[in-house]
Amino acid sequence: MSDRQWAGMMVGDESYAQCRNFVNFEAVVRRITGYRHVLPTHQGRAAENVLFSTVLKPGDRVPNNIHFDTTRANVEHNHGIAVDCAADAAWDPEADLPFKGDTDLAKLDRALAEAGRNRVPLVMMTITNNSGGGQPVSLANARAVSAWCRRHGIPFYLDACRFAENAYFNKVRAPECAGMSIEQIARAFFDLADGCTMSAKKDALVNIGGFIATNDEDLAGRLSHALILMEGFVTYGGLAGRDLEAMARGLEEVLDERYLEHRVGQVRRLGERLLAGGVPILRPVGGHAVYLDATRFLPHIPQHEYPAQALTCALYLEGGVRGVEIGGLMFGTLDGRTGEMRWPALELVRLAAPPARLHRRAPRPRRRREREALPGTRPAAGSPRREACAGASPLHGPARATGLTATGAAAAPALRVPATAGSAGGHGASPGPSPTAACVARRPGPPRPRARPAAAA
Ligand SMILES: Cc1ncc(COP(=O)(O)O)c(C=O)c1O
Repeated sequence: MSDRQWAGMMVGDESYAQCRNFVNFEAVVRRITGYRHVLPTHQGRAAENVLFSTVLKPGDRVPNNIHFDTTRANVEHNHGIAVDCAADAAWDPEADLPFKGDTDLAKLDRALAEAGRNRVPLVMMTITNNSGGGQPVSLANARAVSAWCRRHGIPFYLDACRFAENAYFNKVRAPECAGMSIEQIARAFFDLADGCTMSAKKDALVNIGGFIATNDEDLAGRLSHALILMEGFVTYGGLAGRDLEAMARGLEEVLDERYLEHRVGQVRRLGERLLAGGVPILRPVGGHAVYLDATRFLPHIPQHEYPAQALTCALYLEGGVRGVEIGGLMFGTLDGRTGEMRWPALELVRLAAPPARLHRRAPRPRRRREREALPGTRPAAGSPRREACAGASPLHGPARATGLTATGAAAAPALRVPATAGSAGGHGASPGPSPTAACVARRPGPPRPRARPAAAA
């Protein structure tokens, strides 16, 4: 957070209801979004749960460009069906297009035809599209989806987590937005929708917070009942007054185009360096993260051995770099009817850059020989996903905290960390420090996990 946000924390008004900070927060959200009703929540996923538990009936469908994992989980938790309707290019990691977050209207038509009008209580649009590579949505596409929703009488909601980054991309990539300020572009998006959910940990630049905003008075009343039950009173929603103040200030600061240029530029430069080193990444580079393409990075690991999760674990073990798997582990589903696994098209590892903080030195990309030695990961015994992998090679070693175990006889040497890397003893001999392990030895990082990945016998 900025100094101004931390200063705001010092003027927290912790009275139970209608604290001064809420009044300020509400005014800022209203000014930026134009939405009349503002309900704070402690995170984005809480906003999603309050919304979906209020509007969904069992079996309802919720189209989105691509649901973020918490959004999908909250739809499914409330017995709905999450439908991804992004244009096909979103699933092609090499398609270098300016607005890969766009929704395909033909897919919306299909979702509606399959469900029937009364079973689609709202359409969502995630800006930027996190699970599809942090890719922006164009204003033109938001306009088309908004018109589609109006035509069918369906409310349109934004998952506005990165509304400012999305506006920045429109400014630099969409000719119609070139002369507009970030605030004007963001407002043009909000004006097309009926409301939004927000994780303030993203484009409100805070450590905790979120909100729902809407123009629908009746819905706002129903949401406030759920909010009081799940989060807290309507003027604090699970937060302290000081958090509301930090959010209000962050929402104003994020609209600074110079900040956005710096942030998006940092991430782009990281992506360019990885590309220059021959690391396969999803293109173009997204707003808040670089996404490694695990399918091309580890072509020898089949999807049912979770290549993106294997890469995520290896990155952490070797370099202390914590990424997130966005692939079969996050989105693979077991078809209840056929008993078959349904796999997502992409196997990605997201390397998200915290706002205003990014390590300057990118880890050296692995050499091909090292990559080929990486193991796949298999579901641990007892995991529901284990069934889907029945028949593949047996598990080696105990389940780890992730619920996964490393497999493959060739795995152990490549993951071994030499004593010079400051690792705990007992890790066995290593052929010598790998470039990334040596890099870890030079800079402080998160504590290295003591447990070894399961070694082949
Ligand atoms: C697009 C999107 N929606 C929802 C969320 C959930 O927000 P939170 O982590 O605040 O619960 C996130 C978090 O990364 C996100 O990126």
